[in-house]
Amino acid sequence: MRVLVTGGAGYLGSHTVVVLLEAGHDVLVLDSLVAGSTAPLERAAELAGVALGGRRLDLVVADIRCPADYRAALEAFAPEAMVHFAGLKSPAESLSRPADYYDVNVGGTAAVAAAALAAGARTVLFSSSATVYGDRAPVPVDETAPTDPVSPYGRSKLMAEHVLRDVCATTDGVGLAMLRYFNPVGAHPSGRLGEDPRGVPANLMPFVARVATGAYPELQVFGADFPTRDGSAVRDFIHVMDLAEAHLAALAWLAARRGDGAEPTTRVWNIGRGEGVTVFEMVRAFEEVTGARIPCRVTARRAGDIAESCAAVDAVEAEVGWRARRDVTAMVRDLWAWQRAHPHGFGTGAA
Ligand code: NAD
Ligand code: WQD
Repeated sequence: MRVLVTGGAGYLGSHTVVVLLEAGHDVLVLDSLVAGSTAPLERAAELAGVALGGRRLDLVVADIRCPADYRAALEAFAPEAMVHFAGLKSPAESLSRPADYYDVNVGGTAAVAAAALAAGARTVLFSSSATVYGDRAPVPVDETAPTDPVSPYGRSKLMAEHVLRDVCATTDGVGLAMLRYFNPVGAHPSGRLGEDPRGVPANLMPFVARVATGAYPELQVFGADFPTRDGSAVRDFIHVMDLAEAHLAALAWLAARRGDGAEPTTRVWNIGRGEGVTVFEMVRAFEEVTGARIPCRVTARRAGDIAESCAAVDAVEAEVGWRARRDVTAMVRDLWAWQRAHPHGFGTGAA
């Protein structure tokens, strides 16, 4: 298939590009590079054994909010599918920049979806988030649970789900899936491609990895008084390569059901492992696998954090046949292989 990947130069997008290329798909990435550079795509190309800028993998640098800047490229590529990762992703930042979050995540999604359908795409995957369930979700949470996001970011992702339903309903035979990711972590097992957050990492595992490199002296554990087995918060961590493979499986499943005259297919699937792991357990696993020591200091809870988040994953397994395969050991091993080789991200390490 020809697959348009918005946000393909980002963390989740670049890993998914590798998996798509290895499965034989051709990829056009649409990315403004606002969150990074072409480095992840160059690595993705290297890992998949293709040239960036060739027939198998090309890049158009443009903002999803400005279709005039990328319409011609989309029409020339004629995508059969779109995987839509591009967007802003920080709940904390969304409190100070709500208008930007709605503009990019909602307005940008409407614009790029319309352009992709006009250029021929009939299968659409959307990077949604467990955050749409909010802070009163049952554990494990399934896709029928009520949604009640608590941040502008979360609300923008939920609105984008609605936008995609409406835009895709204008065209016959479109297959659409909202993939609600839980907590993606880890890196490509080669150690050549991984997450490269700007500034101080806001997420747990990138921060832990940078304590191990010596960039920070200790991990602040945000709260050890949650009603959980060790007092620290529980999350459903999923290896980024499992997440990437979920896209491959969902694309194939939806594509088999598309076509003019076909009933529109819309699905919502949780993308997690269905297993809760505490913050302390993740830190311990990292120490055991890597031999590094991570000094921890318990501090106050971070505003907005919930005690426990875990996915029910039966729906996607029953329908698509996809299930996460990699355990916590693989997550921390691959994260460390990447971070150790690139202590300052793509700017360092072997070229
Ligand atoms: P990322 O910041 O690494 O990647 C996002 C990419 O989108 C970047 O390459 C950025 O340059 C691009 N982008 C941003 N705004 C754009 C715009 N206006 N036009 C074109 N390109 C633009 O983020 P990520 O971790 O890879 O997340 C990808 C998607 O998955 C996001 O939509 C995010 O909301 C969603 N998500 C992420 C997580 C997570 O923990 N990483 C969890 C749930 C959902
Ligand atoms: C995990 C746990 C922290 C850092 C976020 C977004 C969510 C989704 C995934 C996009 C929490 C604790 C963290 C640190 C810590 N993204 N922690 N010290 O908050 O579950 O989810 O990423 O959609 O919307 O909110 O992930 O990795 O930030 O935190 O103790 O330095 O680790 O308090 O309990 P979170 P996280």
